[in-house]
Amino acid sequence: KTSGLSLASLELGGYNHFMQKEIHEQPRAVADTAEVFLDGGFIPENFGKNAAQVFQDIDSIKILACGTSYYAALTGKYWLESIAKIPTDVEIASEYRYRDVIANPKQLIITISQSGETLDTMEALKFAQAQGHQHSLSICNVMESALPRNSELVLYTRAGAEIGVASTKAFTTQLVVLFGLSVTLGRMRGTISDEKLASYTQELRELSGSIQHVLNLEPQIAAWAQKFAKKSSALFLGRGIHYPIALEGALKLKEITYIHAEAYPAGELKHGPLALVDENMPIVVIAPHDGLLDKVKANMQEVSARGGELFVFTDLDSDYTSNSDTIHVIRTPRHVGTLSPIVHTIPVQLLSYHAALARGTDVDKPRNLAKSVTVE
Ligand code: G6P
Repeated sequence: KTSGLSLASLELGGYNHFMQKEIHEQPRAVADTAEVFLDGGFIPENFGKNAAQVFQDIDSIKILACGTSYYAALTGKYWLESIAKIPTDVEIASEYRYRDVIANPKQLIITISQSGETLDTMEALKFAQAQGHQHSLSICNVMESALPRNSELVLYTRAGAEIGVASTKAFTTQLVVLFGLSVTLGRMRGTISDEKLASYTQELRELSGSIQHVLNLEPQIAAWAQKFAKKSSALFLGRGIHYPIALEGALKLKEITYIHAEAYPAGELKHGPLALVDENMPIVVIAPHDGLLDKVKANMQEVSARGGELFVFTDLDSDYTSNSDTIHVIRTPRHVGTLSPIVHTIPVQLLSYHAALARGTDVDKPRNLAKSVTVE
């Protein structure tokens, strides 16, 4: 007699959905992906035999991707420019492939993809190559898929199979690789000191623990999600390197709850979105204690003054406190420095997951969406 447990429920390992399981796997997925840098060092060979030569030759980087992988690319740009000092631009693959571009043989083309099979990303890579781009690197989660097969260099994320349509652990592991790449390039190009290298290494070592700390906040985040489930619209705000995390938060909410959500760099509020703010509009703010916190506080003040309800993720080092019934604060761990965007991805994933549960949507298979988009 069989146990009556389906294969799916066994694979879920006690979780209710793959998305929930994959969110909780992130401390492991991130540690596995970081291992290549922590054990082997920030060396070009992690990206392929020929990588040292390629990394010497290039003068700039262009990253092409779709969906959540595109938001990883946007985050990566901040690190590539601040740590490695390499001019980097990021483009949506489906746009890039259909425009007149200025090819630069010294520009490294990076594609980022969980599946390695997204048609637009693949076609964008082929287009870049046809325009004369000679160097390509794929950051991918699926071994031997189309993008790594067609790229000169590759580094695989070690997220493991991702089943939920809404990407979670693939995103955070892509960020680990982009950070590792930035430090590797910075080392080679002499843009980081030995002290900096030591502190980046330490941050990477501590990352899994910080993610675990945020996962432990799940009950508080789930309580917020009950309020979101009743809303028809939400705004996500961030600044600097946390702006792409606000974008990713809004995408997660749209994908699995079908609530309309938009993200803005908080400084841009006054140029339009402030008109949307009233007492029915929940506003999620990613506000860690970084150099922009004072600016973000002023932006939050603008929202409060218009009656908006604020849901703020800030870290233990920040002095931001709630002073009204319509300002809610959850404290993430002590400020984790450069890797803060990775840590602040977890709460927005959990918020969407629990809001979707409350709304009764099909979390792992949202309507109209596919895990891998291999058509145009
Ligand atoms: C689909 C998925 C998204 C994913 C995007 C890009 O839209 O639903 O989760 O981010 O494709 O996929 P890729 O496999 O290229 O990262």
